[in-house]
Amino acid sequence: MANIVVFGSQWGDEGKGKIVDMLAERADAIVRFQGGNNAGHTLVVDGEQCILHLIPSGILHPGKQCLIGNGVVLDPFVFCMELDKLAAKGVDVSPSRMMISRKTHIIMPYHCRMDGAREEAKSDEGKIGTTGRGIGPCYEDKVNRCGVRAGDFENPSLLKEKIAAALIEKNVLLKNLYGAEPMDAEAVFAELLPVAERLVPYLGDVSSAIQKASGAVLFEGAQGTHLDIDHGTYPFVTSSNTVTANAASGSGCSPRDLERITAVVKAYTTRVGSGPFPTELTDADGGYLQSKGHEFGATTGRKRRCGWLDLVVLKESVRLNGPTELAITKLDVLSGLKAIKLCTAYEYNGERIDYPPQIQNGMAYVKPVYETLPGWDEDISTARSWGELPDNAVNYLRRIEEVSGVKIGIVSVGPDRAQTF
Ligand code: GDP
Ligand code: IMO
Ligand code: MG
Repeated sequence: MANIVVFGSQWGDEGKGKIVDMLAERADAIVRFQGGNNAGHTLVVDGEQCILHLIPSGILHPGKQCLIGNGVVLDPFVFCMELDKLAAKGVDVSPSRMMISRKTHIIMPYHCRMDGAREEAKSDEGKIGTTGRGIGPCYEDKVNRCGVRAGDFENPSLLKEKIAAALIEKNVLLKNLYGAEPMDAEAVFAELLPVAERLVPYLGDVSSAIQKASGAVLFEGAQGTHLDIDHGTYPFVTSSNTVTANAASGSGCSPRDLERITAVVKAYTTRVGSGPFPTELTDADGGYLQSKGHEFGATTGRKRRCGWLDLVVLKESVRLNGPTELAITKLDVLSGLKAIKLCTAYEYNGERIDYPPQIQNGMAYVKPVYETLPGWDEDISTARSWGELPDNAVNYLRRIEEVSGVKIGIVSVGPDRAQTF
C-alpha cells in the first residue's frame, strides 16, 4: 500500500478517526503531525467506542507503530491518561510501538490557563470558542522560540530554567491583564517532573522511524481545512496548519513521501465553536441532523452546529490538499429526509462565486446557492456496496464527485469499523 494522508475537508469531526482506524490495518506506522488534544477521534470496533485525543488512531491494531510528530503539541498529562486508559483495556502502549518526537512541543499547565483566561476576557462576538486545551498559547511559544520540547524532558535543569523564564512573562499577563491566578514555577516543575520522567522512554527520532518503516505510513490529520491557521475562516480557526502539506513538515519527511491523499467529507456539514458557517441550519432539518447524527463534540461535549453539505468549502479543500479520493462519512444520517440540499456556489456582493472570499470573516457575508436533490427513506447502515444503496443516495454521491472533481473511494454508513465499503 502507498503512504496515505487522511485529512478533514470541513471544520473537523468528519470521521477521520474511523477512516484512519480502517486504513491502519494495511499500514505499518500511523503518525499524527499537527494539533493536539483539541482533537477527538472516535473509533468503534465491534460496537465498542474508543475516543482518542493524542494517540494515533492505529493503536487498536496490534503491532502497528504509533508516532507523534514534531508538528503536534502534546499535553503530557493527557497523554499519560490516554496511555493508562488504553492499557486498562489490554492495549499494548509500550515504547516498543509508540514514539514521541524530541521536537514535539509540550503544552504546559500555563498554556491551558492562558487559553481559558484569554477566552474569558473576550467579548461574546470575539470568543473563538477554543477547546480550552492550551493549543494556541503552546504554538505561540513555539513560534516565539521559547517553548518546551519533549526532548527537554531528558534535561530536568533545562526544563526548570525554561519554566521559570516563561512564567516571568505569563504571570504578568495572567495577573495584571486577565485577573487570573499566577503560577509558581517550582510547583509547575514539581508537578511535571514525574510525568516527564514517564515520557522519556517514548522519545525518539520520528523522522527516521518514518523512513525506516517497512510498509506504508498513514498520516493522520486533525481538525479540518477550514480551521487551518492560514487557509481557514481566520480568526475563527485553530493554531496549526491542518492542510496536507503539513503532513511532511509536521512529521519530518519529504512531500514526495505523501502518495495517496484521502479527504474525509461528512455527508453534511458541522462546526463546533464560533465562526461563519454559510449552510448552517437552525430549522427542523438542522435539528434532525444534530440528533440523528449524535452531533456532540468528542472533546468538549458541546453541541455541534449542523447544516447542508457545502461544496464551495469542499472545492477549496480539494484545491488546497490535492486529494486522490474522497471518503464520505455519515451518509446513513441523511436517510429519512424528503429533500437534501447541496450548496454549489455563493452569492457575494451581487456576484456568484465558487470560492470563499479572502477578506476577514468574508464567509459571514455570503449567501449559499443550493441545488435540491430528492432524499431516500431506506436505512442504509447495513449497505456494503454501491449496489445496495437507493438510487437517490447514489445520485447524491455522484453529484458530489461531479462538482468536486474527485472520485469517492470510501463510503461510511455507520460508526463501526465494519460499516464501510
Ligand atoms: P474526527 O474528529 O474526524 O475523527 O470525528 P469525530 O470522532 O469527532 O466525530 C465523528 C462522529 O461520527 C463519531 O461519533 C463517529 O463514531 C461517528 N461516525 C463516523 N462515521 C460515521 C458514519 O458513517 N455514520 C454514523 N452514523 N456515524 C459515524
Ligand atoms: P478533530 O480532530 C472540531 C475548533 C474549536 C474552536 C477552534 C479553535 O476532532 O476534528 P483550539 O482549541 O484548537 O484553539 O480551538 O477550533 N476545533 C475543532 N473543531 N474538531 C476538532 O478536532 C477541533 N479542534 C479544534 O472548537 O472553534
Ligand atoms: Mg473530532
